[in-house]
Amino acid sequence: MFEPKESPGERDKLAPFYSSDRPDGHIDINSGRGADNGRPPDKVDGEGGESQTRSSQHGDPFHWSLTQGTTVGRALVSAAQRLGEPSSETARLDAQVLLAHVLNQNRSWLFAHHEYELSDGDCHRYADLITRRRRREPVAYLLGRKEFYGLEFVVDQRVLIPRPETELLVDLVLAQISDRGDRPVVVADVGTGSGAIAITVAVHAPEAKVYGTDISQDALDVAEENRKRLTPEAGPQFLEGDLLSPLPEPADVIVANLPYIADEEYSGLQSDVRDYEPRVALKAGVEGLDLIERLLEQLPSKVQPRGAVLLEISPRQGEIVQKMAQDLRPKPSYVGLRRDYSGQVRMVTLEF
Ligand SMILES: C[S@@+](CC[C@H](N)C(=O)[O-])C[C@H]1O[C@@H](n2cnc3c(N)ncnc32)[C@H](O)[C@@H]1O
Repeated sequence: MFEPKESPGERDKLAPFYSSDRPDGHIDINSGRGADNGRPPDKVDGEGGESQTRSSQHGDPFHWSLTQGTTVGRALVSAAQRLGEPSSETARLDAQVLLAHVLNQNRSWLFAHHEYELSDGDCHRYADLITRRRRREPVAYLLGRKEFYGLEFVVDQRVLIPRPETELLVDLVLAQISDRGDRPVVVADVGTGSGAIAITVAVHAPEAKVYGTDISQDALDVAEENRKRLTPEAGPQFLEGDLLSPLPEPADVIVANLPYIADEEYSGLQSDVRDYEPRVALKAGVEGLDLIERLLEQLPSKVQPRGAVLLEISPRQGEIVQKMAQDLRPKPSYVGLRRDYSGQVRMVTLEF
């Protein structure tokens, strides 16, 4: 019911936006998880302390509940069944991560305490999270956090959940910074969202001067919260506005993971993404190139001579963005494509 309309090949190309946000950062584009496990939501399994009124409460087919005193072991089995096929590793992992979160423990604690009985409050909190997960709400939003480059970012529906593929952009920015070094390097993260790229760069290169821009003040509020937690002394300066326009000075390194989903692709996204992540973080016009094209147009006045620009793209956009970059005036001295760690063309690099 929530399967994307594209062929599996198309799904691979858009992997970051089809992936379920596995809490361990693993991408699981082929898990085939639908909204449910195929059984009617109100069918009773007859095990595991599930309430006799476990479904269809107030007509909600995803509603699920547990009775006080259910053990950890039984709760995990029941929740995993409700989230997917009993053999689905992803469903089991989601069930474990969410219960560990409710109990404020780690996953290994769960395995050592299978007979621990859940309190009424635990049952309510867990059932609420499982119900929301059954509606395909991403695990990162349920937890309110996502790990990126070894740092924990606060996330909610105001921001895109940072994807592991984007960590490559950070690697490239840090390499650019260490290749320079004569004076403080100015870095601009355009479309900063949760601040994942800008803050990670600031943590690993505290001598750099980092800006993050975004058109969404809601996103910038989340980014600022992350800045206070992760770089309390300084960190990036966040600026509201269109692409590079709010930048007060030209940058040596411009990095951007801008929206690149074409209008037609948008309706085919998994509901985890389409129904929960901000539209402004995903959609980018008929070809998915509107934002990237405008960013390239803004470059001449916003990039330093010898500056570098690192853009995340959809693999199907590699050639066209490369061509757009080669046609720029002043002409970049180098334009190249980079693959991500799964072998997909994922980045365009420009050097002036
Ligand atoms: C794909 S998300 C990337 C977020 C973050 N950089 C990351 O990698 O996780 C794109 C971001 O671009 C922002 N955005 C969209 N249009 C923009 C514009 N015209 N100017 C600046 N930011 C924009 C969105 O609000 C969103 O936060």
